[in-house]
Amino acid sequence: MALIEKNTLHIVGYDLIDRDHDEFIALINHLDSASNADFPALFQQLHEHTEQHFDRENQLMLQFAYPGEIEHKGEHQRVLGEFRQFKTRVNKGMITFGRAFVRERLPQWFGLHVTTMDSALVAHLNNHNLT
Ligand SMILES: [Fe+2]
Ligand SMILES: [Fe+2]
Repeated sequence: MALIEKNTLHIVGYDLIDRDHDEFIALINHLDSASNADFPALFQQLHEHTEQHFDRENQLMLQFAYPGEIEHKGEHQRVLGEFRQFKTRVNKGMITFGRAFVRERLPQWFGLHVTTMDSALVAHLNNHNLT
C-alpha cells in the first residue's frame, strides 16, 4: 500500500498547487520503497521539490495579498527546517531517521496542511479571481 493514498481531500482545485501536491505524493511513495542506497538522492529530490512547491505558494500569497501570508509562510519555513535537519542525518548515513521522517511525520503533516492552510489559500485565490 502506498504511504499516501491520494484522495479527494487532497485536491484543492487550483491546478498549479494540485500539480505540486501530486508530485509530492509520488515522491513520498517512491521514497518509501527506495533502497538504502537510493534513499539519500531521492530525499534530496523531495527536499528540492518541496522548496519549489512552497516558493510557488509563497509567490501566490504575495501576488494576491493573502491575509494569512505570515502564518502560512512561517509553516513552510518550519517544515523546511525539519527537512534540513533530517537531510544532515541522512547524508551521514543515518537512513533510519530519514525513513521515520518520511513515514511518520510527512504524511500526517501533508494531510493537515493541505486541508487547512493550502485550502484556505485557494479559497482566497478563487475569490480574488471572481472579482
Ligand atoms: Fe502545498
Ligand atoms: Fe502550503
